[in-house]
Amino acid sequence: MTKKVLHDLDVDYVRSCFPTFAEPLAARTAFFENAGGSYVVGQVIDKLLHFYRVNKVQPYGHAEILNLAGEQMDAGRQAMIDLLGMPADTITLGPSTTQNINTLAHACEAIVDRNSEIIVSEQDHEANIGAWERLCLRSGAKLRLWEVNIETGELDISELQNMLNPKVKIVAMTHSSNILGSLNPVEEVVDLCRHNGSRSIIDGVSFVPHQWPNLSIFQPDAYVFSTYKTYATHLGVMYTARDFAEELEPQCHYFNTEYPHKRFDSAGPDHGSIAALAGLGEYFEQTHFHHFGKKRVSLKKKAGQISAFMHKHESALCAQLLSGLRNLPVRIIGKTTGKWREANVALVSDKHTSDTLSKVLAEKDIAANSGDFYARRLLEKLNLIEGYGGVLRISLAHYNTSDEINRVLNVLEAMH
Ligand SMILES: Cc1ncc(COP(=O)(O)O)c(C=O)c1O
Repeated sequence: MTKKVLHDLDVDYVRSCFPTFAEPLAARTAFFENAGGSYVVGQVIDKLLHFYRVNKVQPYGHAEILNLAGEQMDAGRQAMIDLLGMPADTITLGPSTTQNINTLAHACEAIVDRNSEIIVSEQDHEANIGAWERLCLRSGAKLRLWEVNIETGELDISELQNMLNPKVKIVAMTHSSNILGSLNPVEEVVDLCRHNGSRSIIDGVSFVPHQWPNLSIFQPDAYVFSTYKTYATHLGVMYTARDFAEELEPQCHYFNTEYPHKRFDSAGPDHGSIAALAGLGEYFEQTHFHHFGKKRVSLKKKAGQISAFMHKHESALCAQLLSGLRNLPVRIIGKTTGKWREANVALVSDKHTSDTLSKVLAEKDIAANSGDFYARRLLEKLNLIEGYGGVLRISLAHYNTSDEINRVLNVLEAMH
């Protein structure tokens, strides 16, 4: 019998893949702290537990127990390579995105000097600003800030165009803001950089949980994201284009430089967490099968198709949330409709601090944090620290439901 093809995300199915929902605490919690860190799919938890229970040893070697540990780590790495569809030597796994960017910035000492300029965007998480600022301090290069609009927080690409000149070696920016949810035109930025001879470093941490990236289409020089926000273990993934990587100073032990995937691994992240990434591959594989039946297409394509379903579902919830918020006396920070944004919504109220909003939501078992979320420079520019104590952030994942959105809206309505 042929399997019925589904046209929308089966939310009950995806929720059944997350064991956390079977726990009483998570079952009663409406979880909107996804941009901080998502729940973890069962397939990933199983692989992690297996590694820790059976093979938590130094991997690789003659003894079977060592070899099996190595094989599981290889499978985890391979799953990420297949999900991204990029060459194995271009993918580094590190303990976090902050660490990966820091390591990359050290490696970039090979391409900048006191005559160089580095552009960072004011909209970014500090992870993609501070590392470049410190590189400037070490190398004597000049740091230039691509400023946001003081009212909207948005970046204007024509300003970047005006800032570019032959001295600019690096442009670092976010794919989508972890505060505004805004989608930035990274394809255009990458193009502009290529024509200017600058390297583009794109922070995808806030984008990838909502849309699986197709790196081969827009070809950034470097792209980073964190798997603990994409329903897996706490790791950072960094893609570096081959020609870019070749110009850089390796950051690994000297005898490992011949292994390209180790060149920018200065930390050696948790082995079990790497092995568990194989579970993320299985999640996309099995969710694809559930929706489309058996298909002979690559894992990257399957992830893309399922991610499109996830995105459609999240976008509908985001529209519901924004429409409810527009009727309340709160200020949405960023775009007030779903166009050119991800389902990551920040707001402030003139009646309550953001911390109070978060506390009152928590009393009703709704998890949504407040603060600057390490996008401190953006929030300072928008005057959202003093008086408000940062923003309340309601960030969605594909397992959220319309009922949960109504719960948030009802509490916020009662407070205003
Ligand atoms: C947009 C963005 N970039 C970078 C980071 C840093 O990621 P990590 O915690 O893996 O260092 C975060 C973390 O929240 C983030 O939201």
